[in-house]
Amino acid sequence: MLRRLHPNQPDSFDFTPANLDWARAQITKYPEGRQASAIIPLLWRAQEQEGWLSRPAIETVADMLDMAYIRALEVATFYFMFQLQPTGSIANIQVCGTTTCMICGAEDLVAICKDRIAAQPHTLSADGKFTWEEVECLGACANAPMVQIGKDYYEDLTAEKFTWILDELAAGRVPTPGPQNGRFASNPLHARTSLSAGEVVEPVNGSLGMAAELDDTVKRIDGTEAPILTPWLRRADKPATNRLGKAPAPKPVVAQKTPASAPAAVAQKAVADAPVEQQRPAALDAAREGGADDLKRIKGIGPKLEILCNSLGFWHFDQIAVWTASEIAWVDDNLAGFKGRVTRDNWVEQARQLAAGEETEFSKRVDKGGVY
Ligand code: FES
Repeated sequence: MLRRLHPNQPDSFDFTPANLDWARAQITKYPEGRQASAIIPLLWRAQEQEGWLSRPAIETVADMLDMAYIRALEVATFYFMFQLQPTGSIANIQVCGTTTCMICGAEDLVAICKDRIAAQPHTLSADGKFTWEEVECLGACANAPMVQIGKDYYEDLTAEKFTWILDELAAGRVPTPGPQNGRFASNPLHARTSLSAGEVVEPVNGSLGMAAELDDTVKRIDGTEAPILTPWLRRADKPATNRLGKAPAPKPVVAQKTPASAPAAVAQKAVADAPVEQQRPAALDAAREGGADDLKRIKGIGPKLEILCNSLGFWHFDQIAVWTASEIAWVDDNLAGFKGRVTRDNWVEQARQLAAGEETEFSKRVDKGGVY
């Protein structure tokens, strides 16, 4: 199946404020320079928010991770879990069509989807509430046939039961996920045929209970559902422990020379930690005659940041090349969502080289077409 961007795209994409905070927190999981590793969770959250991945959503995530758009597009088109076309406002129904489910009645479920939703998969129903698709084995073969709806599985389905589930969803209700024939998980439907000796403990389906409690089966996620947890950011504050949870044995003390410049270093650090006074750099209303410089030749500035820089009055390398610390602090504060980029990628030094007509390793790659 060819996976392409949908022909009809929205003009823009924005994470909700809470999802944006969540996404920024995920990025902090990864070491400096490895932020691209957050691509899948961020794309997934964008899809959880909108129901599908539009081109603006993919590009927004790419900008946040300082990735070329094509790299983000490669990820979005590779994984089938990413929907590249609009999905139903209530749910996208994923019918397992692999061997066990097919033998046990998946064809009946697909026929219902064709009749109730749309003749073709990945097509919105007339009321826009549903889409459907056939997927490969979802790993619940013992409960075939089954479908995934939103985050949950509905198993042991019959045509009647599946029709009822669609009716309930269309009416705004969410049926309890799991087996629909009354059995527990994949236990025998009737009496046990094995392991029947001794005390029989009443089974408790923890994951089903949690699914019902969270009530997020088909909910669009806006980030307000759960607190943002970032335990990895607190790790540095915790006393180190070994694998047994004990404090590690103290390391032998090695006599070290105190650097003669220690007091100077302490003073330097205090200066570095002090809040930097902000000052707006000299800005231009528009690019000078001859046109703006291609700021994307500076590593760390993508198309979105270039537009942002232009809107702040920065069009040329020689403007950026002379920013002072207080001016960088001002720019940092005004680069909504991109705080820290200027120093992280050392824009000033890159701009100085480019303004002088020199090349950087990154600008050479851009010129060869290897970046955008
Ligand atoms: S064949 Fe359908 S879940 Fe495995």
